[in-house]
Parts: sequence; structure tokens; C-alpha cells
Amino acid sequence: MTLPTDHPLIDGRTSHSPLVRAYRGDRPDRLPVWFMRQAGRSLPEYRELRVGTAMLDACLNPELSSEITLQPVRRHGVDAGIFFSDIVVPLKLAGVDVAIVPGRGPVLSAPIASAADVAALRPLEPDALAPISEGVARTVTELGSTPLIGFAGAPFTLAAYLVEGGPSKDHLAARTLMHADPATWNALLGWAADVTGAFLRAQVLAGASAVQLFDSWVGSLSVADYEAHVAPFSARAIAHVKDLDVAIVHFGVGTAHLLGSMHAIGADVMGVDDRIPLDEASVLLGTDVPLQGNINPALLAAPWPVLEAHVRDVIERGRAARSHVLNLGHGVPPDTDPDVLTRIVALAHA
Ligand code: CP3
Repeated sequence: MTLPTDHPLIDGRTSHSPLVRAYRGDRPDRLPVWFMRQAGRSLPEYRELRVGTAMLDACLNPELSSEITLQPVRRHGVDAGIFFSDIVVPLKLAGVDVAIVPGRGPVLSAPIASAADVAALRPLEPDALAPISEGVARTVTELGSTPLIGFAGAPFTLAAYLVEGGPSKDHLAARTLMHADPATWNALLGWAADVTGAFLRAQVLAGASAVQLFDSWVGSLSVADYEAHVAPFSARAIAHVKDLDVAIVHFGVGTAHLLGSMHAIGADVMGVDDRIPLDEASVLLGTDVPLQGNINPALLAAPWPVLEAHVRDVIERGRAARSHVLNLGHGVPPDTDPDVLTRIVALAHA
């Protein structure tokens, strides 16, 4: 299948944007920049809009999800919006009882522990994705020539929440299940791959010009465990958008040892966290792979001269790769002064 004729990559609105060009391996005149978690608690206009609305209710309200997505684009002049949602939204739409507890993260009423629990999981009905398609379509209309990035959680990171029942430090229960009961593990990751893949596809068909697969917690795995028990399912998740010819970014935290394996699932661009410099990541991956990253979020609170020197160093090291999209090494911390982000955008574009 191909994209609809009124999609921004097809009608030309975003096909020559710096972000899309850099994701395809070009070096546009302007260094593109956006920030993971650019929408959210660092913005007073976000905190105001969210008063009285639960996180997942905001995600499923097209008017709200669209407005929240646009806030950081207007304020900072970043080169992309990232659709305001959450990795657990498709789980909720498939009927999983999950809520996002402020300050903690996703929490399930009934963690998935057995083969019977996995067998009881329902597929995601296409109609359930209507609020996502509508939110994306509204956002893309407003964004004009600025591309929208769609995203989803990768099967392992979703399983880390499903099996643990909430946030966990080392994801031990999930890593135990992987070895103790491989058949149940495979069934769970297969379900997660299809649910998250459908979420990704809905965003692209409604107008997203690129996608990012977040496998935030995969850094806790060895290369052998990743390749045997996780990579095939991440590949299955992105297979849902492979025919649509949009750039696929793949990101995780603490993944220096996994970069090659994570690229090999079929990613076009690798997101790099702040534990490994971009020039070293480029040696590990080969210089032909476009990179995204990796400003240390801890330095956002440092004096500007310290942060500026660091950002310049990240940009310099990014030249080792074929192309580079500037970003953080992980999400914007909630207490970040948003003016600092605006200043980084100005520096990148100067
Ligand atoms: O980047 C963006 O601006 C887009 C929005 C986005 C959110 N979640 C909004 C959100 C994205 C891309 C995500 C992905 C996500 N969600 C990931 C992968 C990225 C990463 O950070 O590694 C993960 C692991 C989750 C699960 C999750 N959801 C966590 C850990 C939390 C934080 C809990 C907390 O309160 O600290 C959430 C909630 C969440 N998702 C918030 C936002 C803006 C905070 C909700 C609020 O405003 O109260």
C-alpha cells in the first residue's frame, strides 16, 4: 500500500523539510532539532490545559492531543511535532485496564502473569483508533510544512509494564518470564507487536511523516537475549508500517551494546542516549547510519555556557555520521526551564 495522495510526504508539504531529509541521510542547510517529551510538564501552557483531565483521557481527546502537540512547536520553533500520546494508549484501546499515575507512570489493575492471562488479551479493533487518527489529522493540518512524528512503544518495553504491572527498576519479572516460559513470552510479545504496530500505522496513515519506536528499557538485556527473545517482535511491530515508506527511528536507553542489533530490525535512524558520544556510536553502527541525539538532559539545568559547550560538542560529534538530528539523550525533565530549550533550537539553527 502507498500513502494517501493528501499525505504531507506525498503532496510535498514535508517531503523537503530538514527533518525528513536528515532522516533519509541528507545534510540539509539547517540542523533539525526536536526534543523527546517536548510536550508536557515543562510547559506552563500544558499544565494549565491538563487541569482536571487524566493523562489517558487527554490522549484520547483529539482536540486536546492536537493542541498539546502544537504547544512546543509554536513556543520553541522545533523542526517537528511528536504526537502527544503514550506508549500504553494502544493497550488501553485493546481493553487493558491501565492508568497513568502522576509522578509514577503506567499502572495496570491486573498484571499479565500466565499463559491464560495472555490468551485473554483481545486484539485492537481498528475502530478504536479513531481518536488517534482524528488527533493526528487535526495536528497535521495545523502543522503545515512542519512534519509530525508518530511513535509507539516497542514490545519489550510494553511487556516490562504488562508483566510487572507498573514501573520497575530492572524489569526482572519480564526477564524471568522470557526464559521461564518462552511460549507465553512469545505470545505476549506477538500480541504487543500487533497492537503497537496498528497504533503506529494509524498515525502514519493520518499524516505522520516519520515514526519513532521507543524501546526505552531494552538496555537491561544482553545482546543474546535481545536477539533471541525481543528483536523478532520489534521487527514485527515495524512491519506494520514498512510498506508506507516513512523513516523509522529506533531508540532505547543504555543501549550502546545493542545499537547494531536494534538497527538490524529494519530501523533507518538510530536514536542514541547520552551514555555514548555520537562519534563512537557512529563507529559501532557504521557512518552510513543517520543518528539522532544526544544532549545530556542533566545539563539542561546547568549554567548556559556549560550547556552551550556541550551542545556544540554534540553537534560536532554528530558530523561523524552521514546525517544528524539533534535531540536529547532521553526525555525533557518536568522541571526544565522551557526557555533553555528555545535557546538550544536557536543555537542549532544558527
Ligand atoms: O515526547 C513527547 O512530547 C510525546 C509524548 C510522549 C509521552 N509519553 C507523554 C507523557 C511520549 C513519546 C511518551 C512515551 C513513553 N511513555 C515512554 C517512552 C519514552 C521514554 O520516556 O522513555 C515511556 C517509557 C512511557 C511510560 C510513561 N508514561 C512514563 C514513564 C510516564 C511518566 C510518569 C510521570 O508522571 O513521571 C508517563 C506519563 C506521561 N507520558 C507524561 C507525558 C507528558 C506525564 C503525564 C503528566 O503530565 O502527568
